[in-house]
Amino acid sequence: MGKLEDEIKRRRTFAIISHPDAGKTTLTEKFLLYGGAIAQAGAVKGKKNSRHAVSDWMEIEKQRGISVTSSVMQFQYKNYCINILDTPGHQDFSEDTYRTLMAADSAVMVIDASKGVENQTRKLFKVCVMRHIPIFTFVNKMDRESRNPFDLMEQIESELGIQTYPVNWPIGSGKEFKGVYDRDKKHIISFEASGGQHQVAATEVDLSDPSLDSLIGEDLHSTLCDDIELLDGASYEFDIEKVRKGELSPVFFGSALTNFGVEPFLENFLRLTPTPLARVDSLTGESVDPCRDEFSAFIFKIQANMNKAHRDRIAFMRICSGKFERGMEAYHVQEGKNIKLATGTQLMAQDRAIVDEAYAGDIIGLFDPGIFSIGDTLCTGKKKVEFAGIPTFSPEHFARIEQKDTMKRKQFVKGMEQIAQEGAIQIFREVGGGMEEVVVGVVGVLQLEVLEYRLNTEYNVEIRMQQLPFEQLRWVKNDPDTYNLRDLDLTSDTKAVEDMKGNRLLLFTSDWAIRWAETHNETLELSEFGNI
Ligand code: G4P
Repeated sequence: MGKLEDEIKRRRTFAIISHPDAGKTTLTEKFLLYGGAIAQAGAVKGKKNSRHAVSDWMEIEKQRGISVTSSVMQFQYKNYCINILDTPGHQDFSEDTYRTLMAADSAVMVIDASKGVENQTRKLFKVCVMRHIPIFTFVNKMDRESRNPFDLMEQIESELGIQTYPVNWPIGSGKEFKGVYDRDKKHIISFEASGGQHQVAATEVDLSDPSLDSLIGEDLHSTLCDDIELLDGASYEFDIEKVRKGELSPVFFGSALTNFGVEPFLENFLRLTPTPLARVDSLTGESVDPCRDEFSAFIFKIQANMNKAHRDRIAFMRICSGKFERGMEAYHVQEGKNIKLATGTQLMAQDRAIVDEAYAGDIIGLFDPGIFSIGDTLCTGKKKVEFAGIPTFSPEHFARIEQKDTMKRKQFVKGMEQIAQEGAIQIFREVGGGMEEVVVGVVGVLQLEVLEYRLNTEYNVEIRMQQLPFEQLRWVKNDPDTYNLRDLDLTSDTKAVEDMKGNRLLLFTSDWAIRWAETHNETLELSEFGNI
């Protein structure tokens, strides 16, 4: 293998998804410890006090000076070069969270063993399923009382519609947690709580070892034997092809806080998760080999500069093939011209590291004076490529917005359009209507506050905002020339609107109203994602 291929093949790029508090930060921190990127557990602390606009990783960046952006972190483990994409939870949750998944090649889903599948996991999971990327499950907090592991598997399978393959199996939980049984190696890794966040001593014992009764107790030993027999007989077989397509999730039990089961998880995960995946060129329908010499990348996220003195933005790009070098020229497909990727490599101006080179699989931030849009492609070489756009995700909060001072119409339109271009909000209007009064849709409710604040401070526009009772949105996929929305049989509180690209949508106040629309209009085709 040449150097380029070597570099690319050792990369693993994945997103960690979880419902807030399941243990995503703690698990990531343990990964970083193993990779030597941080020296001590607890280094990622303080996030609860930090402001919402600042992602967890900024703290690590400051402390370690490692090359990361506010939502991507890179570290080395053994010969692997690992890119972890953060998917912010809590009120930071926004459309960006979904978009981040477009840049990942696989996902790690962290589940709290006492809670099972929770709301936010479900939403993010849907996006992974749409992309058919591998999903690995880490059932966390086994040192606390957990739900029955069979029930957890059943819940993952029925609620998320994915098969599961437990790679290891827990022995007890909470105070009784004794460790896990490794189904492949057929031995037990025992757990000894040592308190605090230090590495837990793990001893490996064979299932038939007579000392086992004294190690885990007779009761747990016999439960384990029954569980394993049941699992071997009734659960799905391990099938790497199904894992690759996101149809079967390998499941691991452990405890991130006490560092139990984390390294085996990381090792197995890195072994099973794919090298940078080939992306499809929508011009030819062909896959673009990540290891080819020509560089290609797409923009999946744009972040306004947090420093108000600079109006510039940071565009995050996922490299899909070849190598990026600072100062290189690339063709910006959507603008139809060559641009120099020079200044752009400095991430977030002040304290970011400058990336000199990066390879397929990596994610870097480009300085953006306002030329990029989400979904844009950059490439080099004679043959241009163009990656399919990033889908738009269904917002869940809606508000009617109008400007207070109608003399400032220009600023209002400009501000709304620029903020929409960054992907923070989606704008809708009455079918055939103008921009005097618009409906704004956001994934996280905080985005409405951010919109009001930014229009005011950056564009000097004051707005009136009225929250609307809609909770769901669906794109209408039927042909606009032949399918008239006026003929639809809908609940009285359902509203038809169009987006800025002229796509037609329906706004609903409940799931029930969606089902009504579907059952009363047989040929109506609705989609949860726009413009895939
Ligand atoms: P998140 O990023 O998914 O939101 O979760 P985070 O890692 O911040 O973990 C949420 C809480 O759960 C934290 O406690 C953390 O210490 C705890 N936790 C994570 N993994 C485990 C585990 O394996 N076992 C147990 N028992 N607890 C775990 P906190 O008290 O909310 O915060 P902190 O003050 O300790 O940071």
